[in-house]
Order: sequence, then C-alpha cells, then structure tokens
Amino acid sequence: METTLQPELQGHFETAQARIAAATSAEELRAVDRDYLDKGGVVAGLLAAIPTLPPEQRRGAGQGANQLKTAVLGAIDVRKAELEADAIQAARSGKGFDPTLPGTPMRRGSLHPVTRVTRELEDIFSSMGYGILDGPEVEIDAFNFERLNIPSDHPARDMHDTFWCKVDGAERDSDMGLLLRTHTSCVQVRAMEKLKPPFRVVVPGRVFRQESVDASHEHTFHQMEGLVVGEGLTVGHLIGTMKTFLREVFQKEIEVRLRPGYFPFVEPGFELDARCPFCETVGAGCKVCKQTSWVELCPCGMVHPSVLKLSGIDPEKYTGFAFGLGLSRLVMLRYEIDDIRHLMGGDTRFLSQF
Ligand code: DAH
Repeated sequence: METTLQPELQGHFETAQARIAAATSAEELRAVDRDYLDKGGVVAGLLAAIPTLPPEQRRGAGQGANQLKTAVLGAIDVRKAELEADAIQAARSGKGFDPTLPGTPMRRGSLHPVTRVTRELEDIFSSMGYGILDGPEVEIDAFNFERLNIPSDHPARDMHDTFWCKVDGAERDSDMGLLLRTHTSCVQVRAMEKLKPPFRVVVPGRVFRQESVDASHEHTFHQMEGLVVGEGLTVGHLIGTMKTFLREVFQKEIEVRLRPGYFPFVEPGFELDARCPFCETVGAGCKVCKQTSWVELCPCGMVHPSVLKLSGIDPEKYTGFAFGLGLSRLVMLRYEIDDIRHLMGGDTRFLSQF
C-alpha cells in the first residue's frame, strides 16, 4: 500500500491492515469494516473532529480521513478476493469443502452428429445380427482396389481421386501402393480374410478423396459398408435387408426400387432408392426428394464371384451381397444440414447444436 497517508493516520491504517491480513473469514473482514468505516467508527470519528480543528487544518484532515477510508476499503477487498480464491482452491482439491460456494460451471459436450447417426445405425444392424467391423484408414492398394476387382488399369480407379502416401525411395507416390482408403469397401476384403462364412458385418468409417471441396463434396467423409456372405443369398435377401433397415430407421414400411449401377466388385450392381420418407409430412415441394418422391439410398449389389474367389471363398458354394451407405449424406438428410463442410469443419458453434 502506498503511504500517501498523513503520518498520524498511518498508525490507524497499520492497525487496520494487521487485522485485515489476519482475517480468515468474511465475517472478520466485516468487523474491520464496521470498526473503521461505519457510523461511530474510526473514520467517522476523524470526520467528526474536523470542526474542532483550526480552519487551516480542516481541509487536510478531511482529505486524510477519506484517504484512510479508501485505503481500508481497498485492503478489505484484496483480502476478500484472496479468501474466495483460497476457498475455491480448497473446494477443488476437496479440502475444506464449503457447500455454500457456487459450483464451478461445467460446459457439457455433445456427440458429433456423425457419431450419433453411426451409433443409431450400428444399433439397428446389431439387432439384425450384424457384427461391427473396423479397418485402418491407411490402406494398401490390394485391399482398396485389386482384391475388389479393380486392377491398376481399370477405368473405375479414375472415379476414386486417391490420396497416395509418400514413401521414401518410390518414384511415384502410387508405386508403394499405400493410400488413404477411398471407401469402406476395402474392409470387405479384410472381413473375408478374417471371417468364415456365413457372416454379416457393417463397417462405419472415414474415407478420403482428393475432391475439390464445395457444399456437397469433402475430401474426408463417412460411409457405412455392409457385407453379407452365406449360402443361397439372392437379390431378394438384399432387398429384404434394406427394407428391414428402413423400417427400423423410420418406424414405417418404406418402398424401395433398384436401378442398374456399375461397381466392379458387385454383379449385378444397383443403385437402391427409397420412397421419400419425408414427403408425407412435408407435402408437395419436398426438398429432400426434390419432388421426385424417391431418394437415393445406397449403391449395392451381389458380391462378384471373382471377389469371393480372390479372398479364398468358393463362389460355387457361397454368394453374398454388399451395400455402401453414404453416412455423411444420411447425417445431412437427417439433420437438414445443407453444407457437407460443416461436418468436418470443427466449428463448435455448429457442433453445440447437437
Ligand atoms: N464403395 C463404393 C463407393 O464408395 C460404394 C459401393 C457400391 C459399396 C456398391 C458397395 C457396393 O458395397 O455394393 O463408391
């Protein structure tokens, strides 16, 4: 404390300050406040004595009394803040817990919308007897392409703008065959390596493509792959599975249709559309299906016999079907998100809405 106080007030201040420094509770500080600053207190006494002083001393005495008042008040405030900080510290460390103190506010986090939808779909597929598989995001060419019937000279590779991993010593990045997976279909190969038919699995995960980013394209997005292998599986089972899945999601019967689609690892391959589940409630002018009454749900098909064979599964004995749900797209449909960049943007203002 700066000593701008007049010498005769210095003594008062030092006594007050000693009490303030020794105070260990708000109550003790209030007592000092009372003794010095209240009616009948030290400062009031000094002010009351002013008229008895010679006129030339009165002004200085008034200023001095006010300085003492400010100094005592300031010292009380500082000590009060110290005591509060100590109490919070003690409460945090569990010592001397004071239940009357306000708690430290905690901001609750929330689940990312992709996580929410992933978990929901995992629950649905689990209830249908599916296992949930995972695979690495850095994948080898063999699993991402070759073993899915997409050899290096196959035109389908052009549709996957691949991020190749740089490997020291390689002339071209693609030479070492290490890449960021362009789809979750590569985990189909891993599943066939690992599991004995019959089996059914879904594989949610992040995939990567070298896209120019805009409202509907991202370099990083999410898919959920499905693969079922067993004896006697047909397109009928594929359709039945997708209808069961849709019934679970929307809690009502949803019509589906198949259009031909080409993917090297399935034969025949399809694009599966679902009757727009939003039209009934939204009515004409539905934004989701753009008034066509159909929404594209997923590409799918019967596993190509060569793909089974490449993984050592006898295509004479076993057949299978596969589907590739666009998770990011489903999330956008579900929460009416109109720009895919929100999903990976990491903006907490967006994320805290979920
Ligand atoms: N993996 C394909 C892609 O990302 C999508 C796909 C098509 C997955 C057909 C499948 C399928 O399982 O049967 O373009």
